[in-house]
This record gives sequence, structure tokens and C-alpha cells, in this order.
Amino acid sequence: MLPMVEKDTPVLQEEAQRLYGLLGNVSKTKAEKWTLQDCLSAAPYTLAINRIKKEKNAVILAHSYTTPDLVYGVADFRGDSYELALKARASSAEVIVFAGVWFMAETAKIINPAKRVLIPAGKAGCTLADSMTGLQVQALRAKHPGVPAMCYINSSAEVKAACDVCVTSGNVFDIAQKMPGNELIFVPDMLMAENLENELKRRGTPKKIIADGGSCCVHDKYRPADVAQLRAKYPGIKVVAHPECAPEVCRLCDYVGSTKGMTSYVASSEDNLFGMLTEMGLVNRLEAEQPNKKFVWPFGICSYMKKNSLINTFEALTQPRADQIVQVEPTIAAQAKKTIDKMFELAV
Ligand code: 13P
Ligand code: SF4
Repeated sequence: MLPMVEKDTPVLQEEAQRLYGLLGNVSKTKAEKWTLQDCLSAAPYTLAINRIKKEKNAVILAHSYTTPDLVYGVADFRGDSYELALKARASSAEVIVFAGVWFMAETAKIINPAKRVLIPAGKAGCTLADSMTGLQVQALRAKHPGVPAMCYINSSAEVKAACDVCVTSGNVFDIAQKMPGNELIFVPDMLMAENLENELKRRGTPKKIIADGGSCCVHDKYRPADVAQLRAKYPGIKVVAHPECAPEVCRLCDYVGSTKGMTSYVASSEDNLFGMLTEMGLVNRLEAEQPNKKFVWPFGICSYMKKNSLINTFEALTQPRADQIVQVEPTIAAQAKKTIDKMFELAV
């Protein structure tokens, strides 16, 4: 069902101009920027979604990796996984629409069991969250009795329920430092686990990290040669990476941090040119919000995040499909909530 908005009305033109003002400097593909025509096509949806979300007392949270028409056209809050978890926790809306991947919407539902939580993309996966089950975590814990278990937020509710504390890329190092003992189980990002062990050693608080799981299909594609090529082609460039990248890549970068961390690094830097070893959505946000800086982005698109669109956001708000309605088994949710609450407690 398409939104009922007349074509070529002044309202539509005005909305297209509003969107173009936000998106005009943003890349749509590697070679093209968003055009006024793109914004005209998006405008019927953004107008309808923004009207319906008010009628339904809904709030839209969009991860920075979703497309800019969502991030700037309809989202009430945009950010990384920790920022959005905080917004979900603080929200007084009746309905939360989470434009992101399944584990993020699931986390919002666990934090807000009484609210309706919708995800436009349906069961959008994540190679990290899908790499491990709760039973595998239990088996790992049985092999290492007494060792605390920490999970990355990119994990299923079952994995969270089987751990003691959850972390995001923004607080993983600080929370790990606060965990007792000199051993720590960390799942399900094997590369972040190595980065964590290295960072704890660098901070003078070493721990043996016992890791299992997989890697992010976007960040695990970067190789040391990508950094070398950026430096050779653009002398003086600052190269930044997400801690889901391989340690041999991170070691060569000027800054390694979460989506929010990278944004702050670019904002506070006096440099002008940045090589971005991360997902395209963050590059788009920087283009929109820091237009006086230049970004070189070799590649990296999360196809799971890009499953969210204006069309399925409109559908989720009006007539959600079963897979767009987030439900979590109550016993698992209650256990996982303790793990997430522990993160909020330790992240301060
Ligand atoms: P952030 O915590 O930086 O939002 O990362 C989430 C994610 O999925 C990165 O790939
Ligand atoms: Fe998962 Fe990687 Fe996509 Fe982030 S970018 S949601 S870690 S697959």
C-alpha cells in the first residue's frame, strides 16, 4: 500500500527541498550523490511516515548504517548501537521502530518488554550475531568455570542470556577492564577479541581473552594493503577503523573506535582527509554533518542494514508483517535484560 500523497503539490516540493538540503552532499553510490529527483521520490514516504509516527506515538531509531533517506528523512534518533540502546531505554513512545538489524531491535524489546517494537527489515541478520548460539556459550563457560563471560551487543538474546555482561564497540575496552580476574570470555567477535586483548595489554591491565564466534562480513574484508594503498595515494591521510577490523589492520590505523568514536575523532581532528575502513552509512553521516572534510572510502556495505527502506518502514508502521514485529521469549528476555542492564551500570 503506497502513501496517499498528491503528486507535485507545494507540500511535496517543500519536503523534497528539505531532504535535498540534508542529503545534497551525501553519496548514494560510490560515483553519485543524492539528487533533487531522488528526494522528490522519497518525499511522499517521508511525509506519510512522519505523519503516521505522530498519530501512533511511535519513535524511529535508525542506526547510522541504514540509508540516509531514513537517517535524515524520518529518524527521531540516529546513532551507533550504544547510543540507540540508550534512546530505546529512555523513550516514552508507545511504539519503537528500529531501523537496524534484528539483534538491535531485539535489544530494544528486551529493554522495553511492554512496548511494541517493530523492525522494517524483518529478520535482518548480522554475521556476528548469527555466528553463535546460547548453547555454544554455555559449553564454552562449562570448559572455563569461574571465568566471567562478556558478549558483544551483536549477539542473539540467547547468547546475551548466557553471559554476565554485554558491551558495544563504544565501551568494550572500559567494561572489560572492570571485569574481575585475569581471564575473560568474549563472544562472538573473534577479531574484536584480539583487539581487546591487545588494548588491555597496552593499558597495563592485561587479561587472557577466551574467544569464540565469527567476524563481521563488512569489517573483516579490510586488509593491511588497503591502508598501505590509502597512504600511498593520499599522503598525510588519516586512516580510521572500527574495532571489528582485523588487528593487523587496526595496528596500521591512526584511530580505532566505535561509530560514535570515529565521528568524534574526525570532528576534533585538524586534518582534512580521512580514509574510512567501515560501513558506507557512517561515511554518509560524515558527508552530511562535516561537509568541510573529505572522505575516501575503499568499500564496505552491510547488506543486512540496507534491507531497511522507506517503503518497509511505512509498511511496518501501518500494516506490519509478522516478521517485522519483535518478540523475545520472556524467560530468555528477562535473563538477557540483566546482561544488558549490567552494561548500562558499568558503562558510566
Ligand atoms: P557500532 O556499535 O559502532 O554501532 O557497531 C555496530 C555494528 O554492527 C558495526 O558493524
Ligand atoms: Fe553485523 Fe557487520 Fe552488518 Fe555490523 S556491519 S550489522 S557487525 S554484519
